[in-house]
Amino acid sequence: MNPKVIIFDTTLRDGEQALQASLSVKEKLQIALCLEKTGIDIMEIGFPVSSPGDFKSVQTISKNIKNSRICSLARCVEKDIDIAAEAMSASDSFRIHVFLATSTLHMESKLKKNFNEITDMAIYSVKRALRYTDDVEFSCEDASRTTMDNLCRIVEKLINSGVKTINIPDTVGYSIPNELSYIIKNLFERVPNIHKSIISVHCHNDLGMAVGNSISAIQAGARQIEGTINGLGERAGNTALEEIIMAIKVREDLLGVSTNINYKEIYRTSQIISRICNMPIPANKAIVGSNAFSHSSGIHQDGVLKNRENYEIIDPISIGFKRVKLNLTSRSGRAAVKHYMSEMGYKDTDYNINELYSDFLKLADKKGQVFDYDLESLAFINKQQDELEHFSLQFFSVQSISNGLSTASVKLLCGKKVYIESSTTSNGPVDAIYQALNRITHFPIILKKFELTAKGQGKDALGQVDILVEYKKRKFHGVGLATDIIESSAKAMINVLNNIWQAKQVNKKLKKLKK
Ligand code: KIV
Ligand code: ZN
Repeated sequence: MNPKVIIFDTTLRDGEQALQASLSVKEKLQIALCLEKTGIDIMEIGFPVSSPGDFKSVQTISKNIKNSRICSLARCVEKDIDIAAEAMSASDSFRIHVFLATSTLHMESKLKKNFNEITDMAIYSVKRALRYTDDVEFSCEDASRTTMDNLCRIVEKLINSGVKTINIPDTVGYSIPNELSYIIKNLFERVPNIHKSIISVHCHNDLGMAVGNSISAIQAGARQIEGTINGLGERAGNTALEEIIMAIKVREDLLGVSTNINYKEIYRTSQIISRICNMPIPANKAIVGSNAFSHSSGIHQDGVLKNRENYEIIDPISIGFKRVKLNLTSRSGRAAVKHYMSEMGYKDTDYNINELYSDFLKLADKKGQVFDYDLESLAFINKQQDELEHFSLQFFSVQSISNGLSTASVKLLCGKKVYIESSTTSNGPVDAIYQALNRITHFPIILKKFELTAKGQGKDALGQVDILVEYKKRKFHGVGLATDIIESSAKAMINVLNNIWQAKQVNKKLKKLKK
């Protein structure tokens, strides 16, 4: 068996920090469960000191993930490290990932410190993290623009202090493959204790070279690759893990390494993350794009029909790609729900179909279309998460006149109380319904983006509305799906209101805990 490359996923940290709206605790848990099923070795689940919401989601994920190692990010600041450890304390074993910039540019213009001060801060922080766990990773931020001498000096000291994983980030996506492999090779040649740690790389994609750089780092001896599913992340994103994983598999002959990944989950995980994060996958995206396995030219079609391998280097089935996908709606029966569950690998005895089906119907009524990960969440994720759905639309009516003004009335369930409100005349039916809802909730929200897309085909197509709103300087995303686009718009707003309400509850709980 070839040596393993550790796959380190940072979708929930580097990926999430680049989204337009932050994810809810439940959404992050759904993603974490998918990553675990995909066989990700280590998942970075957040930066707990950065916000109460992040702390809460790290806590929740720590309680639920058993088969992947979890990790949280911390600056070289005592509070960051202590809070990271506290947030993950429900887990038997966890990693703390400490980082500090080492390039001259960052040291001088960002941190205003010299290299000796940086080294001292790094060592001090590593020692503090080692109080909580023996699994500490250190990232020399902006490593690819750090002088080789400084990099070798600090890496040697960090390993002597007990760091098990040294990460060499190409923070600004500046490197090219030969250059990064030169850096890794130099570390192996010049740092005497280098074999006591795993060398990792974390590449950004500003020049479109994140995957190429990561592959060249593997060839030079790196044995941990950091990245995100679908390449999400700061600016142009991070290394797309599905691409690295499949490159390692397809070119095992050349690379001589392997991974622990469960390939069959790759496509599903990519789809789920794209939907939850509201980040569509380009059709021509490698491995997971909708065109990745379709052949257009006659010569190619003929070639594939004669032998798939003529023009396909990956069997789409091997990554769980499905050409035909059923949609689950409130019209779907128990058999369809069972079929989805068994496709996800669950036996009938793993869940209670009666309870699941009744919860499914309620969700399908609310959401329009239900995805496989929703089923998983209904069957296995703590129901408390769903009880947080505070707002629910009971009824609405809209009057819209061409070239004229619209009005709307809504009946909204808020916890246990029911409220009825009407709008004043508005300049359109969606505006009218949003106005009526706002007269009940009084949340000071600003609508930043409204997008309508058709899901499915013909007269049975569903209209999906995605909205982005700003509430007290934070962005929230909401999605609604229905055959009636006014209803989709209302559902999207209800989804946003519930997300805001949940975020407020998390803040209240954490404030109480701190008292
Ligand atoms: O890009 C980067 O340098 C990072 C570090 C925190 C690892 O994300
Ligand atoms: Zn990064």
